[in-house]
Amino acid sequence: MSALLEVQDLRVTIGSTAAVRGASLAVNKGETHCLVGESGCGKSITALSVMGLLPRGAKRETTALRFAGEEIGHFGEREMSRLRGDRMAMIFQEPMTSLNPAYTVGSQMTEVLRRHRGTPRAQAVDRAAELLARVGITAPGLRLGQYPHQLSGGLRQRVMIAMALMCDPELLIADEPTTALDVTVQAQILRLLATLQKDLGLGILLITHDLGIVARVADRVSVMYAGEVVESAPTATLFAAPEHPYTRGLLSCVPVPGKVKRDEPLGSIPGVVPRMRPGFTGCGFRDRCGQASPACEGTLPRQQAGPDHELLCTLAPGWHGRNAA
Ligand SMILES: Nc1ncnc2c1ncn2[C@@H]1O[C@H](COP(=O)(O)OP(=O)(O)OP(=O)(O)O)[C@@H](O)[C@H]1O
Ligand SMILES: [Mg+2]
Repeated sequence: MSALLEVQDLRVTIGSTAAVRGASLAVNKGETHCLVGESGCGKSITALSVMGLLPRGAKRETTALRFAGEEIGHFGEREMSRLRGDRMAMIFQEPMTSLNPAYTVGSQMTEVLRRHRGTPRAQAVDRAAELLARVGITAPGLRLGQYPHQLSGGLRQRVMIAMALMCDPELLIADEPTTALDVTVQAQILRLLATLQKDLGLGILLITHDLGIVARVADRVSVMYAGEVVESAPTATLFAAPEHPYTRGLLSCVPVPGKVKRDEPLGSIPGVVPRMRPGFTGCGFRDRCGQASPACEGTLPRQQAGPDHELLCTLAPGWHGRNAA
């Protein structure tokens, strides 16, 4: 499978925080890749880095940042804004991050197409109405004339998704898109994303705290901790045979995908994610890890724990089995 998005050794510093410290991940075409990890571990900053939407003052470095095979790490704001909303789009937990309260749904949706493609207004309106219908909004004609505040939270989320799809993107990044919604609406939105992905062949990078969501929708999971991707594997492998002590902690309450309930939170591990200072070396998890050794303060080996299963840890894959024996 060819990678749609490849992030290699992403490092982001914001002031005195090393927000991302060498994270790597790849999203394949037509695949849902879930990025999980505790609050503050760098998930949103990773997503924003890809989109070129980092906060002012943030410094980004990568070995490679490729989209559809093309290196985009050196792209300036103009080139990035051409990609954004066109070939790659992002949706957020809070739809009002994307929606402007001062404009109607219709004018915001059509603006995306007009800006990127110069599509005539009437045609853009047709496309907007078609997408609103596609995301399950009834009476799309009526909704196009409404303002965001006239819509419920679930409807706004659907509008944001429809708007993200206006230019038929290849990659959709969704940062906790359902966290603020009630459970029924969450399930509807996730089903919608899954359907859209199948129909449109989208690659999706989905950031979530919810292991139930991961188990149901992810093809692949990457686990982030303190600015690094510590483990990445196909979903079934990760649930069945987690290797990193942090992943094992997260999954400790829910070892089998089929047994994960809706809204099941990540397992809790004593302690909190440390705030990383630039210059910190070694494993960020070592202070909370029952398996830590002096080697964890040095450069960590990137290991293959199995086919397509990557591990960033000093422990040898399978260490847990040997310990138990
Ligand atoms: N605008 C900002 N200015 C300064 N530091 C920031 C900013 N945004 C994020 N950070 C810091 O960068 C680190 C990573 O934050 P990030 O928002 O990516 O975490 P996250 O994994 O998305 O967490 P959550 O699950 O809570 O959304 C944190 O230490 C955070 O405090
Ligand atoms: Mg976040």
